[in-house]
Amino acid sequence: MEDQYSGTIIVENLSKVFYIRKRKQGILGSILSLFYAEKYPIYAVDNISFRIEKGEIVGYLGPNGAGKSTTIKMLTGILMPTSGRILVNGIEPFSNRKVVTKNIGVVFGQRTQLWWDLPLYESFDLLRIIYKIDSKEFKKRLEEYIELLGLESFLNQQVRKLSLGQRMRADLAASLIHHPNILFLDEPTIGLDILTKDVVRKTIKHLNQQKKITVILTTHDLEDIEYLVHRLILIDKGKIRYDGDLNQFIHQYQKSKRILIHLEEEVKLENSLNGYKILKNDMNRFFEIEVPMDESVGNIINKIQTMGGRIQDITVKKQELADTLKEIYKGKEIELG
Ligand SMILES: Nc1ncnc2c1ncn2[C@@H]1O[C@H](COP(=O)(O)OP(=O)(O)OP(=O)(O)O)[C@@H](O)[C@H]1O
Ligand SMILES: [Mg+2]
Repeated sequence: MEDQYSGTIIVENLSKVFYIRKRKQGILGSILSLFYAEKYPIYAVDNISFRIEKGEIVGYLGPNGAGKSTTIKMLTGILMPTSGRILVNGIEPFSNRKVVTKNIGVVFGQRTQLWWDLPLYESFDLLRIIYKIDSKEFKKRLEEYIELLGLESFLNQQVRKLSLGQRMRADLAASLIHHPNILFLDEPTIGLDILTKDVVRKTIKHLNQQKKITVILTTHDLEDIEYLVHRLILIDKGKIRYDGDLNQFIHQYQKSKRILIHLEEEVKLENSLNGYKILKNDMNRFFEIEVPMDESVGNIINKIQTMGGRIQDITVKKQELADTLKEIYKGKEIELG
């Protein structure tokens, strides 16, 4: 049954406050803390709102401790919000956890949701029973995921004995076996080698494009973002700092570009390049400079040639997502749109 909420995530004024006991020093202090516990609040998620439509794939980014996992846990019904409203597929997740779980898939890269002691195949079979999936249909789905994620060689292995990369692919398959229409991924590529990352990314993209699954993804790997995501939601200290188009985000903050110059032979360029920030000068043959975005590269080439420099190679590097994020994570007050 398709309704207007199918595949959507709606978050309104959502907050989560944790109360932490203040520890007093010394043994007496510890004892006193038991009775007179002073508590202080941590605003892990601080009044955030957004709406994700069916079929969107959204990158949920932010530095360590920003509130990403806390948000995902509230969206999937694991944690109760302190205040605010969540609708996932039109359902409030915390008080309807069983119902909401039927149509969502969740992967926490840091821990498995499979049965540690069972062989992988039996873990899947248990999910078949839990989700009441028809046997024939189950076989068909499992075969598809075995193929997509390359699970064949370790299906009979105990989950606890799987390598991290094998376990992560298995977890992803497990999160999909009941055909959810929304997928929540909290660091699904953490600790994976480049080939396994590739398999995971391609699977996520495939599911999003072919099956129109809505995806919300947290990651510290910016290649995940560049490969998968069009929309970025940036959270820092529990507050949303940006919500919008990824490319626009990168362009909006691009104030400078870096130019890498490789000369055929050494020439002293320091004087003619003054006015630019020289980031590197290696034996007067390799230079890396930072120039304003609107500075003409032709102009720079002219200056070099005037000094007698013969250019073997020149590369222009625009500011990347990583550079922009670094500035924001460092706490610079960049005006975010
Ligand atoms: N159960 C808890 N009790 C107390 N504080 C918590 C709890 N869970 C999270 N926090 C605090 O809430 C804040 C947000 O944590 P969260 O795990 O959501 O961050 P994150 O954005 O997922 O970070 P990371 O990138 O490191 O995974 C942190 O300051 C964290 O210490
Ligand atoms: Mg986290």
